[in-house]
Amino acid sequence: MRLFLDTANVEHIKHGVRLGVVSGVTTNPSLVSQEGKVNYKKLVQKICSVVPGPVSTEVISQDVAGMVAEARQIAKWANNVVVKIPAGLEGVEATHILASEGIQVNFTLCFSVNQALLAALAGAAYVSPFVGRLDDIGEDGMTLVKDIVQVFRQYPEIKTEVIAASIRHPQHCLIAALAGSHIATIPYKVLLQMAKHPMTDAGNARFLEDWRKVMGDVKNI
Ligand code: E4P
Repeated sequence: MRLFLDTANVEHIKHGVRLGVVSGVTTNPSLVSQEGKVNYKKLVQKICSVVPGPVSTEVISQDVAGMVAEARQIAKWANNVVVKIPAGLEGVEATHILASEGIQVNFTLCFSVNQALLAALAGAAYVSPFVGRLDDIGEDGMTLVKDIVQVFRQYPEIKTEVIAASIRHPQHCLIAALAGSHIATIPYKVLLQMAKHPMTDAGNARFLEDWRKVMGDVKNI
């Protein structure tokens, strides 16, 4: 499973790329707003230059013509830009038009297997089931990811990749990987949490303590 960062914060993205584990980015209007009143195009181009893989950038328009027009512009901003289109009938139609023009679409705000199936049939490159938001309303968001992966696997002609989105904690990431999700897009905070384990810290402290007792501060190189 690949990891994308779910943020528009350039410093966080740079860190993720430096670690060698982040191969893409997803943004949305809320995440971009968290960076202040920025020049959207310039920010996306900056992110696209920092991360080697796909950078999802959402349209604001809600009608088919508007989404398509916006997406065509966004697609010109960088080679690795992917246009995020919200689920719904307008989104399906827009996805079909854009995919037939070779524009990569991330079908976002997906909350059902049927929406994911429509995304795949319309030609979306990615579909993003929102796990945490389903958990928030008392459903099991990860079941949606598992079901989409299972359905897609039965039809090898489907090339749409599943991005487990709206990830809230490392356990979500683990379950997405076990479910066979192609990608999980995670907040920076979750990336930091994934690397931590109290037993690692305790083990390391013990190793150093034992070493120093005998060797002092002498390094082994
Ligand atoms: C995914 O592409 C979305 O940007 C994101 O995962 C939404 O997450 P949230 O529910 O935490 O806002």
